[in-house]
Amino acid sequence: MFALRTLAAPAQRQCVRAAPRATVSFARQAQRQYSQERVAKFNGKKDADGKFPVSLIEGDGIGPEIAVAVKDIFAAAKTPITWEPINVDPILKDGKTAIPDAAIESIKRNKIALKGPLATPIGKGHVSLNLTLRRTFNLFANLRPCRSVAGFKTPYDNVDTVLIRENTEGEYSGIEHVVVDGVVQSIKLITRDASERVLRFAFQHAKSIGRTKVRVVHKATIMKMSDGLFLSCAEQIAKEFPEIEFDAELLDNTCLKMTTDPLPYNDKVLVMPNLYGDILSDMCAGLIGGLGLTPSGNIGDECSIFEAVHGSAPDIAGKGLANPTALLLSSMMMLRHMDLGQYADRIEKAAFATLAEGKALTGDLGGKASTQQFTEAIINKL
Ligand SMILES: NC(=O)c1ccc[n+]([C@@H]2O[C@H](COP(=O)([O-])OP(=O)(O)OC[C@H]3O[C@@H](n4cnc5c(N)ncnc54)[C@H](O)[C@@H]3O)[C@@H](O)[C@H]2O)c1
Repeated sequence: MFALRTLAAPAQRQCVRAAPRATVSFARQAQRQYSQERVAKFNGKKDADGKFPVSLIEGDGIGPEIAVAVKDIFAAAKTPITWEPINVDPILKDGKTAIPDAAIESIKRNKIALKGPLATPIGKGHVSLNLTLRRTFNLFANLRPCRSVAGFKTPYDNVDTVLIRENTEGEYSGIEHVVVDGVVQSIKLITRDASERVLRFAFQHAKSIGRTKVRVVHKATIMKMSDGLFLSCAEQIAKEFPEIEFDAELLDNTCLKMTTDPLPYNDKVLVMPNLYGDILSDMCAGLIGGLGLTPSGNIGDECSIFEAVHGSAPDIAGKGLANPTALLLSSMMMLRHMDLGQYADRIEKAAFATLAEGKALTGDLGGKASTQQFTEAIINKL
C-alpha cells in the first residue's frame, strides 16, 4: 500500500504541473467552437464539368500501382470526380518537416484527398508525413471500419466493427523530454475540445450508418484525469443523442471480448483516445485478415483524407503484385463522405463479388493474379 502511494503521488503531481501549459497552446489551436452542427461535413465544390476534384497522393512503394487500379475502376464506373495528383515530398519550414505549399493548397481547395502509403524513416530523418498531414489539416478522427470479406476465410465470419480513434493528441502529442539522465517523461495530453469533437463525430457517424450504440473504450481506472476527462466528455455528449445507447468499457476487457467473440460489436461504434485506437484498430484488422483489406478515413472539419491502412510494401513494390483492395475500400468511404454513395455501392459490390469468387486474387490472399488482373476482374463486374 505504501509503495503504491509513493509511486502514485509524484505521477499525479507531474500531471497537474504539465497539463495547464500544454492545454493553453492546444486551446489556442482550437479556434473553433464545436456545437451541435454536423461535424466534418464535406463542403467541396464541383468544377465546370460537374465533377468534384479530389487531391491524390499516390505515395511510395506500391502506392502508384494501387492508385492506378483505383483510377481505372473509377473511370470504368464513370464516377464524377477528377484526380488532382499532388506531391507531398517533405520540405523544411522553420526547421520543421512540412508539406509543400502547392499540396496544402490543393487539399484545402478540394476539401478531400485520397492517399497511398508514405514511407517513414525509422529513428532518424523527417517526421512521419502521415503525422504531419494529420497535424497540418487537423484531422481529428481516424475512422476504421473492419468488415469480413466473403471468400477470404478467417477465424471469425461476419465481423463488422467500426472504430473511431482520436487522431491529434493523447500519447501522440509528441511532448517528451529527459528529466535527468536515464529518466524520460512523455506527456499524454487530453483536451476537452478534441475529446468533444471526436465524440460528437462518433455519435453522428453511428446515426449516419444506422448503428444504435456508441461505446467509449478507456482506462480511466488508471488514468483517472486524462481518460477520466475523455469519459466525462462522452457522458455529456451522449445526452445530445438520446436515441443512441451509450456505455463504456475498459480497454483490456474490450481486447479480451473482441478476440473471444467479435460479433457482439457489430451493432456498435467504438470511440477512444489515440493510442488505444491505434492498437485496437490493427487488432480489428487482424480479425478480418490483415491490413491489406482495411480502409480508413482521417476526418477533419475543413478537409478529410482517406487512405489504406497498410504501408508502402517495399518488398513487392514495382512487381505488379500489390492488392489494391484497401485503397479501393478507402475510396468507397471517401465517396460516401462526398454523398456519392450510389457509386460506392456499385464499385463495392463488384469488388466484393470478385473477392468472393476467388478466381482473380492477389498473392497476399492466396491467389496468383496481378494487380492489373484483379482490377480488370472488378471492372468486368461493374
Ligand atoms: N499509412 C501509411 O502511409 C503507412 C502505414 C504503415 C506503414 N507505412 C510505411 O510503409 C513502409 C513499410 O512498412 P512495413 O513494411 O512495416 O508495412 P507494410 O504494410 O508496407 O508491409 C507489411 C507486409 O504486408 C505486405 N503488404 C502490405 N500492403 C500490401 C498490399 N496492398 N498488397 C499486398 N501485400 C501487402 C507487404 O508486402 C509486407 O510483406 C515503412 O516506411 C512504414 O513507415 C506507411
